[in-house]
Amino acid sequence: MSRLPEFLARVRARTEQALDRRLPAATQAPQRLHAAMRYVTLGGGKRLRAALVFAAGEALGQRQPEVLDVPACALELVHAYSLVHDDLPAMDNDDLRRGKPACHKAFDDATAILAGDALQTLAFELLAGDAALAVSPARRLSMIARLGAAAGSAGMAGGQAIDLGAVGKSLTLPELADMHARKTGALIGAAVALGALCAESADTARLTPLDAYARAIGLAFQIADDILDVEGDTATLGRPPGRDQKHAKPTYPALLGLDRARALALEQHAIALESLRPLGDNARLLCDIADFILDRTH
Ligand code: IPE
Ligand code: IPE
Ligand code: MG
Ligand code: MG
Ligand code: MG
Repeated sequence: MSRLPEFLARVRARTEQALDRRLPAATQAPQRLHAAMRYVTLGGGKRLRAALVFAAGEALGQRQPEVLDVPACALELVHAYSLVHDDLPAMDNDDLRRGKPACHKAFDDATAILAGDALQTLAFELLAGDAALAVSPARRLSMIARLGAAAGSAGMAGGQAIDLGAVGKSLTLPELADMHARKTGALIGAAVALGALCAESADTARLTPLDAYARAIGLAFQIADDILDVEGDTATLGRPPGRDQKHAKPTYPALLGLDRARALALEQHAIALESLRPLGDNARLLCDIADFILDRTH
């Protein structure tokens, strides 16, 4: 039987508490900014990136959850920031996120922009200085460099720029794969890598298969997101479906149709599992997460 449901419940509870403790109190000035940061970070989300941090860290032998809390928070903070900005009128112009009004609707555009900015910098502040992250300074630096590259113009922000620049145009398959790898895959890859870097045994022999795994599930994850935007419903998704088509977004279902998009996600799932072989039984949870990504309903 899969240990995944129990594992995900543990990660969600831990991450919620770890974020709550590290976010500034809503009573602390500037209150509106702090309230917005807490509003978008707490009480929602699948916490997939946190789960990847924990699963990768534990696969490589890191047994202290307090250590993994720090990169898990950093990833969820950068992810939350990316969603806040993604929903802004100047980007996807979406009003609902995680079943509640998007940040710019619950607050205002300027507060949403600033909340995103502050969430992103908090992530790096934690990686640089949070005492719970009991790893060497060299490891901290590696984590900061890896997350910076994944969030920046070569990663998520760059992917978002390609996404917006491609509206109404048709991308080729390699261009679409590249866009997905950046906008979604890069942070997923960083989650796996930062979790692994919390373990002393993080060497090339282990990091290389983990990287290949992360690339494959990153693509499968965004294909699933695009398919859910076609097939999902508002109640389950926490946001209305059909937005990609409405905005003429480049997606796999738009380019290939649903069946071929599904086949491609399955292919990536198989690559992900194959990539984990060198890690043996230790990678059980990472395999289960690959299954979860393929079968998810929201
Ligand atoms: C949504 O990510 C945005 C994408 C990168 C596709 P998630 O589906 O992981 O969002 P939450 O955190 O569960 O809300
Ligand atoms: C967003 O992709 C990816 C990032 C936020 C980096 P989407 O625009 O497809 O995500 P959803 O569908 O709004 O969650
Ligand atoms: Mg978008
Ligand atoms: Mg969007
Ligand atoms: Mg989407």
